[in-house]
Amino acid sequence: MNAQRPLRLVICVNERLGAGQRSCAGSGSRLLLSELQQRLSDAALDVPIVERECLGRCAEGPAMRIAPGGEFFTEVNDSTLETIIDRLRQQLTTQSD
Ligand code: FES
Repeated sequence: MNAQRPLRLVICVNERLGAGQRSCAGSGSRLLLSELQQRLSDAALDVPIVERECLGRCAEGPAMRIAPGGEFFTEVNDSTLETIIDRLRQQLTTQSD
């Protein structure tokens, strides 16, 4: 069996508590998560968002990744979200072809 895993967006919501340690939650990933959920809903894109505790890019957070095996996004901000949504839309279109 060779079933492809469904498209999803993985977002780090980790908060590192050590002094001077950057983390995605410390850089605003939880706020971005809420904004993404709203924008995906507005765009009628049925892509689940999966929260993770770390994607190994802590100093470059907020970090997100399209899965499976997709593009990595770091230092995500409000303006990056449209790019992510465009990529997800492209992936969904490709999958349905
Ligand atoms: S804290 Fe987000 S990648 Fe490590």
